Amino acid sequence: MAELTTDIKTARTALAAGGVVAFPTETVYGLGALADNEVAVKQVFTFKGRPREHPLIIHIEEQKLLEYWAAEVPELAHQLAKQFWPGPLTLVLPRKQERGEIAAGGRANIALRMPAHPIAQELITNTTGLVAPSANKFGRPSPTTAQHVLDEFSNEDILIFDGGATEYGIESTVIELATSTPRLLRPGVIPQTQIESITGPLELATNSGDAPGTLANHYAPRQPVILLSKEQFAQCEPSYAALGFIQPAQVNPENFRQLPTDPTKAAHQLFSLLRELEATNTEKIAIEQPPNNPQWATINDRLKRAAQPN
Ligand code: TXA
Ligand code: MG
Repeated sequence: MAELTTDIKTARTALAAGGVVAFPTETVYGLGALADNEVAVKQVFTFKGRPREHPLIIHIEEQKLLEYWAAEVPELAHQLAKQFWPGPLTLVLPRKQERGEIAAGGRANIALRMPAHPIAQELITNTTGLVAPSANKFGRPSPTTAQHVLDEFSNEDILIFDGGATEYGIESTVIELATSTPRLLRPGVIPQTQIESITGPLELATNSGDAPGTLANHYAPRQPVILLSKEQFAQCEPSYAALGFIQPAQVNPENFRQLPTDPTKAAHQLFSLLRELEATNTEKIAIEQPPNNPQWATINDRLKRAAQPN
C-alpha cells in the first residue's frame, strides 16, 4: 500500500533501507531509489511496469558525481552543467562499465541530472544518486502532484513525499554527449536554442533506439487522444472530452478544460488537465493543436506522443 509523507527523515530512512520513495522535482514527480542498490532499482522497474532495457536517469547531488558514474566527462558536459544545474537538464554520457548497469538498462551510456527542487536535493544528500523515472506506470502521463502518484501506485509498497504541485509540469531536456555530435534525445523544459547557444547545432534523435521510451506511444490517458486543428476542434463530437483554447459550444462544460495561451502555464497544467479529462466517462479526448512554434515545441512533442495509437 502506498503511503503519503511530508517528513524528510522518514523518506530518507525508507530510501536508505532500499525502499522506493516518490518525490517532487521541479519538473514532475520521480519514483526514487538508491542508484547503487540494484534490488531497489529493479523494484522501480517492476513497480512502473517498465521494460528492463529502458534506462533511468540518476539524480545527483553535485557535479563531481559525474565522474563517479561516467567513464568520460567531456568539457561540454561541464559547461552545460555549470549553466543549467541544478535544473531540468539531463546529460547522457558514456557509462563506467562497473556502475549503474541495471539503472542504464544495460546500455553503454548513463543519464545524469542535478535537480533544483529542495525536497529532491534533501533526499539526494550524501548518496551517490537516486534513480527517478517519472512516477507513472509505463506509458501513462507524468505525475505533477502527490495525488497523481497515489492514483497510479495505490497498490504498491511505496512512500510518496507530498511536496505540492511541481513547478514546470513537463520533464527535463535530455542531451546525449557520448558521441562527437551532441544530440537532443528528448525536448524538455530547457529550450533547444538555449542548449545550442553552448553546444552549437544539436542533432535530433530520429529513432526510438536512441532514447528508449521517448518515441513510442507515451503520456497516454485511458481513452484515445486525437489532435485537431482549431477548426476541427470547434466542430468536434459533442460526446468527446475536450482540451483547448476555446470551448466548443457543443461539448459539455464538465468535459472541457481550457489550455492556457501562455506555454509556460500550459506546461504546468498539461498532465493534470489530461488526468482530469481522463476521469470523465468520454470515449475520446480531443485536443486543439497549439501553435507550431518553438515556444510550444515541448508541449507539442508530448501531445503528439499522447495521441499515438497504442
Ligand atoms: O524531468 C525528468 O527528467 C523526470 C524527473 C523525475 O527527473 N524524469 C524522467 O525520467 O522523465 P523518465 O525515466 O520518465 O525519462 C527518462 C528519459 C527516457 O526518455 C529515457 O529514454 C532517457 O531519459 N534516458 C535515460 N537514460 C538514458 C540513456 N542511458 N541513454 C539514452 N536515453 C536515456
Ligand atoms: Mg517518463
